[in-house]
Amino acid sequence: MNIVLCGFMGCGKSTVGKILARRLGMSFADTDSLVEARLGKPVSKIFAEDGEAVFRDAEHEVCAELCRGDGKVIATGGGALTFERNAELFRGKCTVVFIDVPLRIIRSRVACDGSRPLWDGNTQELFDRRRPKYIAASEFTVDGSGGSDEVAEEVINLIGKEKLK
Ligand code: S3P
Repeated sequence: MNIVLCGFMGCGKSTVGKILARRLGMSFADTDSLVEARLGKPVSKIFAEDGEAVFRDAEHEVCAELCRGDGKVIATGGGALTFERNAELFRGKCTVVFIDVPLRIIRSRVACDGSRPLWDGNTQELFDRRRPKYIAASEFTVDGSGGSDEVAEEVINLIGKEKLK
């Protein structure tokens, strides 16, 4: 079984994912890092030099590869599960968890450092458009407003010890 974490930029997917992987003895994978490795440059450069479509295609290929194996906690990029072709890949095969954090809290966490090309100030519209898609793509929703350890604990409780055996 793979656990897939989705949610808006800055919701804690990677941080919570690493904690989960450690606690559950699973491996950790991050779609952004795998796309960067595949295309040989950081996400910001892929968007600037090649365009978003190139990034999304590589992201889709990475998702397709990741959903095959077992025993992984997968942190997805904030856009990944808003595309039906990616949601479809994971549905039924992986346990998808949406880390739900209010935009107000996300804003206090995400730095405007240029590393997130879609973080441009008009985040409210993007957030409102995406939130229902995260919910539709997920089996579970967890409140991600608290600390990462607390959120990881809640994910484990939600998924249930039975499913994690
Ligand atoms: C994106 C989020 C980023 C990264 C890319 C696009 C998005 O990942 O995949 O910049 O569409 O929201 P994080 O959610 O890890 O910031």
